[in-house]
Amino acid sequence: MKFKLLPCPAACLAVLALSASSVLAAETPPAADRLQWFKDARFGMFIHWGVYAVPAGEWQGRAIGGIGEWIMKNGSIPVADYKGFSKDFTATKYDPSAWAKLARKAGMKYVVITSKHHDGFALFDSKATDWDVINSGARKDLLAPLASAVRSEGLKLGLYYSQSQDWVHPGGGCLGKNSAWDPAQAGDYDHYLKSIALPQVEEIITAYHPDILWWDTPVEMTPQRVKPFAELMAQYPDILNNNRLGDGFAGDTMTPEQHIPPRGYPGKMFEVCMTMNDTWGFKKNDHNWKSTRELIRNLSEISSKGGNFLLNVGPTAEGVIPPESVERLEAVGRWMDVNGEAIYATEAGPFPRPLQWGRVTQKAAANGGVTLFLHVWEWPADGKLLLPTLKELPTAGKLLKSGSAVIAMVSSEGVVIQLPGAATDADVSVLRLDFSSPLTISQQAFITPAADGSLTFHAADAHAHGDFSGNIQLRDSGPDAYLTNWKNPGWRIEYPLSTPQAGKWKVEAEVATPDSTKLTLAVKAISVPVKIQGTGPGLTWEKVGLGTIDLPAGESSFELRAVNDNWKGVSIRRVKLVPTP
Ligand code: GLC
Repeated sequence: MKFKLLPCPAACLAVLALSASSVLAAETPPAADRLQWFKDARFGMFIHWGVYAVPAGEWQGRAIGGIGEWIMKNGSIPVADYKGFSKDFTATKYDPSAWAKLARKAGMKYVVITSKHHDGFALFDSKATDWDVINSGARKDLLAPLASAVRSEGLKLGLYYSQSQDWVHPGGGCLGKNSAWDPAQAGDYDHYLKSIALPQVEEIITAYHPDILWWDTPVEMTPQRVKPFAELMAQYPDILNNNRLGDGFAGDTMTPEQHIPPRGYPGKMFEVCMTMNDTWGFKKNDHNWKSTRELIRNLSEISSKGGNFLLNVGPTAEGVIPPESVERLEAVGRWMDVNGEAIYATEAGPFPRPLQWGRVTQKAAANGGVTLFLHVWEWPADGKLLLPTLKELPTAGKLLKSGSAVIAMVSSEGVVIQLPGAATDADVSVLRLDFSSPLTISQQAFITPAADGSLTFHAADAHAHGDFSGNIQLRDSGPDAYLTNWKNPGWRIEYPLSTPQAGKWKVEAEVATPDSTKLTLAVKAISVPVKIQGTGPGLTWEKVGLGTIDLPAGESSFELRAVNDNWKGVSIRRVKLVPTP
């Protein structure tokens, strides 16, 4: 096994005791790039606050399923009834300075708040409509004080704006023409865009000078409809846009929602947005809170893939952030106080797949070297951590919390770190290693051919290609990890590899699918149809043959693609390529 350590010292080619006090190389100053602050920030607060916090998940004594801010649509609440909630949107306990301080103490570097969500309600004083906070129980602009509080804490400000869906203003695109549930919603979509959405975007830009515009659900945004928005944004080149404005507008950031993409998006910036319970907008009966450990590990995992984590809070109608959220954010902040340098301004780790003991981030050093941060999730019983295939020894190394030095050794399998004592943190202990030169880590050696020449790809070796917000998900990190949630036939799974010579390979996979399904096995434009019989209920794993492929010599890849014909989804664990004569 690649991850098994050879017994030391026999396997050790060199042993070096490191002193924690060795001089650490200075970091490269950040490039003057309009996106640099965002890349360095890594952690932000999402705030979903609006009239939906009044019903808080219930209407007419009935619990309405789904996420809280969708209650109007999910409960088919008529416009007049929904508008009636706004008098109870009082914000009487709103303390923007406490919110901004909470974000800063949690280690967050920016705050993104819903200036208008799908219910069309503006959290600011809008000239374009009366459906705004001035005519609610709050009777005052709620964004201005937050904008200044956030900036006083040294944080950046992002504004979420639902440009495409608006369930209250007539014509506001209720996810397709037929999905309105109240005649009051009828109207012309283009008129809505022109008279409400576009002017409001101008209002929030000129009033609050946001650093980010966070668009959402571009359901009916054709390139023609996107154009005036894109032209407006072109006048504000410093504002960062996400990728949800609409067709033909790439934006600056990918926005995987409620999941961490298996391998990030190499070469692209991304921001994972996630709830702490199961809703964005406040719901009084949602108590399904993620643990602090899960939140810290998500931050660690997302950073190890080069992305940002935008973590949500959903305040009540009075303006109270739920205590469960506060408690968790404070705990994450305590972890960040010690380990922030392993998160801020780091890049994706150098290893091609997640390591079994944890995650890795890195920073370039001014002397041409590199700093690695090892985020230890599972403290090894024998105290040994393997950095597979790495050849260089660090010049300094220490645990961030205790300051204790570690010992590094070169073995035939890579560098082995000998950790002192027990885990320094119950959730993620971080170790800093400084190297004086670039690192050599094999990207290919991870898929070592078996004795029969076959190559086995684990789920973490795959690239999952989803769409603007959704994707196939990687579950677990060990050898039994699998890819699941393949909901959409447009999504596909790619396995990159490199083979010394051209050849024919038989492809086998371990799959689980309750129903019979069709997919194709493809190498570039050549694709072979495959039919998979149902393997049984839930996750019943079975080995199936997927056919044969021809691969060229050198770098290439093969893909699994869904067939757009009643697609039911398949979960995939290992895929094996067997050479055929
Ligand atoms: C969605 C939902 C929305 C939420 C957003 C956050 O697409 O429509 O309610 O604000 O995701 O990413």
